Amino acid sequence: MSGPVPLLYTRGVETYYGNIIALRGVDIAVFEGEIVTLIGANGAGKSTLMMTICGNPQARTGQIVFDGEDITHLPTHDIMSRSIAQSPEGRRIFPRMTVMENLQMGAMISKNGTFEEDLNRVFDLFPRLKERQHQRGGTLSGGEQQMLAIARALMSRPRLLLLDEPSLGLAPMVVKQIFQVIHELNRSEGLTVFLVEQNAFHALRLAHRGYVMVNGKITMTGTGAELLARPEVRAAYLEGGRQEAAQ
Ligand SMILES: Nc1ncnc2c1ncn2[C@@H]1O[C@H](COP(=O)(O)OP(=O)(O)OP(=O)(O)O)[C@@H](O)[C@H]1O
Ligand SMILES: [Mg+2]
Repeated sequence: MSGPVPLLYTRGVETYYGNIIALRGVDIAVFEGEIVTLIGANGAGKSTLMMTICGNPQARTGQIVFDGEDITHLPTHDIMSRSIAQSPEGRRIFPRMTVMENLQMGAMISKNGTFEEDLNRVFDLFPRLKERQHQRGGTLSGGEQQMLAIARALMSRPRLLLLDEPSLGLAPMVVKQIFQVIHELNRSEGLTVFLVEQNAFHALRLAHRGYVMVNGKITMTGTGAELLARPEVRAAYLEGGRQEAAQ
């Protein structure tokens, strides 16, 4: 490999569920300071790739390297203690805990002793969470829960933020707001983001680069603008996005 080394890369990753192959030799790279998106249809393997990066399930073959270290066979808790934070699909917050308690859980993995500072930072990004800090997570609206899931991930001060479908089930206005925050974090702090999305239109507009996954394989890659312009991408992934953008 020539040029700079990616913060995260995968080489030939294959992941199975039992005997069924879900990832068929995936190569992706995410450089420091980039927003990279992975788009693809339902069941393509997007969440599987994100979960494989986090070590659950583990890749059966291939290699995953973060910050120069092979993390392919590390247990999940070791991976998450290496400055990777994940907001999983379906925003798995703790429903019975309050907003504040959820954020405290996110901070536990960080060793910085900067809780107050980090809390103020996520409250600045999501003022709604500050207003609702004593409310139980499970009673928040869908959009608020998504904000909480991202805020909780940010509490550990990650170098790499993994986001799985943050726009799922949210109204266009809320999606815009959440993508704006991701853009802002990347612009002002240089946060590196790997974003899995079905909302290809917004994701490709936000991202520096993107990958398209079909049936467990990467079939296309390019800058966000390049992929947005490709007729195959438009035909397969952009119909909903265009309608939404027109609203
Ligand atoms: N725990 C599991 N056990 C068995 N098969 C699974 C499991 N999780 C996912 N799969 C299968 O692996 C394939 C990839 O699923 P995955 O969730 O990664 O897709 P995805 O691209 O994230 O889809 P979506 O956009 O619907 O979230 C699918 O065929 C799915 O049924
Ligand atoms: Mg998924």
